[in-house]
Amino acid sequence: MATTTSSSGSSAIKHDAIVVLKNDHAEVKKLFKQYEKLADKDDIAGKTAIANRICAELIIHTEIEEQVFYPAAREAIDDDDLLNEADVEHASAKDLIIQIQSGDPKDPMYDAKVKVLSEYIEHHVEEEETEMFPKVREAKKLNLKKMGQELTDRKASMLAALTGKDGEIDSKNLLILLNQDTKH
Ligand SMILES: [Fe+2]
Ligand SMILES: [Fe+2]
Repeated sequence: MATTTSSSGSSAIKHDAIVVLKNDHAEVKKLFKQYEKLADKDDIAGKTAIANRICAELIIHTEIEEQVFYPAAREAIDDDDLLNEADVEHASAKDLIIQIQSGDPKDPMYDAKVKVLSEYIEHHVEEEETEMFPKVREAKKLNLKKMGQELTDRKASMLAALTGKDGEIDSKNLLILLNQDTKH
């Protein structure tokens, strides 16, 4: 390997796992706002690109939570009900994401689905940020710094796999990932 000291942003900033997850929440909230503006302007191409970004960000986010953060949280805090509910909420969000990804952006139902997804996510994020995350932090049983790096690394490789040659999210790759994910 040659030098890796390129100037392309220092993604190696050490955020702990909870900060990484909260940053994702903030990012997706911004994207939902952008979507609404574009939908109001009837910018079909623009809103479709943002919807794809939203779906990709959410799939990556739910995957890293399900693969890394939730199992560790289950061990760290004694609250299976909370974790079970979060898993069910992820499953509902994924169903809606599949519908959006296989839907027609010109269909008025498309906007309705994106809107309902944003409401689901808002509710889910609030529960994570006000209940689950504080409990995990207070339990002090996890190495959240180390996990933050792992989440960041996984995010980067999943995003690369979902991004097409044009730098946009490839909807086909997204659907393949979603279908694999809902089969297990
Ligand atoms: Fe979640
Ligand atoms: Fe989350």
